Amino acid sequence: MKMLMSQIFHPVKEDMVKNRILKIEIMRFNPDEPDRMPFMQKYTVEEDKRISILNVLQNLRDNEDPTLRFDAVCRSAVCGSCAMMINGRPGLACRTYTSELPSGIKLHPLPFFKLIGDLSVDTGTWFRAMYERTESWIHSSGSTENLYQDNEKMKAVYDLDRCIECGCCAAGCATANMSDTFITAAGLLRAARFFIDPRDERTESQWYDVIGNDEGMFGCSSYLACNDYCPKNIPMQNTLAMLRRKMIKAGIFGKSR
Ligand code: SF4
Ligand code: SF4
Ligand code: FES
Repeated sequence: MKMLMSQIFHPVKEDMVKNRILKIEIMRFNPDEPDRMPFMQKYTVEEDKRISILNVLQNLRDNEDPTLRFDAVCRSAVCGSCAMMINGRPGLACRTYTSELPSGIKLHPLPFFKLIGDLSVDTGTWFRAMYERTESWIHSSGSTENLYQDNEKMKAVYDLDRCIECGCCAAGCATANMSDTFITAAGLLRAARFFIDPRDERTESQWYDVIGNDEGMFGCSSYLACNDYCPKNIPMQNTLAMLRRKMIKAGIFGKSR
């Protein structure tokens, strides 16, 4: 029997689907009309089997309101562009099913990032700046081509490389929502990804200059909302704890690794 991708990733039992009437409220705001205050627009939607928040939004845009703005590319938790606040929690619209939610659903854009309009935010500019801030490329004095690497070490690197740049960790982070210069979990993961890469020659002291401050590792409260909201289940807890230990050591002793 052919299996739908939605069944593989989200096995919803038939009896869980109640065909309810959903009351959807979506924050609307057009920055091109700055005199018009943001408001919540209400829509009524009949629930269907295995319908995602992204399906709801696409149906609304196709059939009711072509001006509704939101982003989506892959529909399969790969591109990260459909992240938004769903009943107050950051999540991917393409991987959040109405059957997981009450019949009243409120959608807001992610905080922290620049609002483009309605549910659409500009994560790209922020991630680009963060990659420049962390110098997200291998720093090596020689060629890294055809260099043998230990499998276990590279598995750990690739585990941190699974970030899809959705921004959910930043949106759910109390520090980020108080300080727009905080590097966020995504930035700390990026630093960790190169820190543990055996090909990268940057020392602990050099990393301390980048993230050894209140806008970096020491601004992190370690309550791990980022861990709860990351849709890719990237291991934040161990990674942030490792980086904190290394940065404390570098701050006290200023030693190279
Ligand atoms: S542990 Fe808390 S403060 Fe630190 S990056 Fe994650 S959400 Fe932000
Ligand atoms: S670390 Fe997770 S939550 Fe944060 S941007 Fe990457 S995939 Fe999204
Ligand atoms: S549409 Fe790509 S992650 Fe949701």
